Amino acid sequence: MTSGAPSQSRASEATAIAHPNIALAKYWGKTPHAGNYPAVPSLSVTLEGMTTTTRVCFAGSHEHDRVLLNGSEPGGDAYTRASTLLDRVRAATGETRHALVESTNDFPTASGLASSASGFAALALAAMSAAGPDTRIDEARISDLARRSSASAARSVFGGFVELVAGSLERADEHLSAKPVAPADHLDLRVLVCVTREGKKAVGSTDGMRRTAAASPYYRAWLDTAPRMFEALRAALLAKDLEQVGTLAEASALAMHASAIAAGVIYFEGATLAVLEAVRTLRANGLGVWATIDAGPHVKVLVHESESARAREALVCVPGVLRVLYTRPGAGARLA
Ligand code: DP6
Repeated sequence: MTSGAPSQSRASEATAIAHPNIALAKYWGKTPHAGNYPAVPSLSVTLEGMTTTTRVCFAGSHEHDRVLLNGSEPGGDAYTRASTLLDRVRAATGETRHALVESTNDFPTASGLASSASGFAALALAAMSAAGPDTRIDEARISDLARRSSASAARSVFGGFVELVAGSLERADEHLSAKPVAPADHLDLRVLVCVTREGKKAVGSTDGMRRTAAASPYYRAWLDTAPRMFEALRAALLAKDLEQVGTLAEASALAMHASAIAAGVIYFEGATLAVLEAVRTLRANGLGVWATIDAGPHVKVLVHESESARAREALVCVPGVLRVLYTRPGAGARLA
């Protein structure tokens, strides 16, 4: 876990684990201020069953930050985002040394399975713990730090159902962290992740949002609608109304993608539509299943635990589905 103190000759290290989260009410779009503030509120569920493990080691012997993601050096934007987070940790803690970061995912990376959410949540927690081993872990601070690298990561710091409100349009540098809304066992929800492709997505979320804001004739409509969907979904969740949660989650995903598609940002592939159609057919036949899709081709299917085996059986047979991961609400980021 941790050893030594910042700026001493001994290396200081910590290892954290975190899980992806799936937004039920989607975040898509940023405020105009620097600092990565979401333009709309979002509500997610953190999932167990897929894990990022990240070790951070600050040592005087490192000439620059080094990042290993699943054993290879990512370079480019992924490296810059990680070293920028480390710069923020150094500025906040007085740590002066560079770090070696080793991160592994036991699920596809950068493919729309929210690897950046679990990745930056684990990195923020491990880096703060390594740099300031004597300071109490302040989850709100870790969440704010993670958000600055990837807004969805702010939510993976917490377990269960989690919200992240929108950034303010007036203030340019506020603290903004996610907050737990309900514990993991609040609903008997299962999330069936239908994996439709291995490998990276063509357009990352940050770029997809930028292009949507710049070119979609429906972006304004999305900004107007998303907060209402978020409020309704939050109320349905607190009322434990899974049918309403599922209905609103599917509507939020479709509205987000509609605004993106109108700007030419298309994450759907043939298999994505095949799963979407299968979900709608299953629902018409009486099964409580709802679909949500992020910045990638995979479809995440929401279902009550009692109907999850039947739903899974049907979904594995959909053409183009490579495998179906069975996940449930789980815990937030923690030290390993
Ligand atoms: C579709 O959090 O990956 O998954 O803040 O630019 O890193 P950045 O974006 P990111 O976007 C996630 C988008 C989404 C919806 C969501 O998770 O709310």
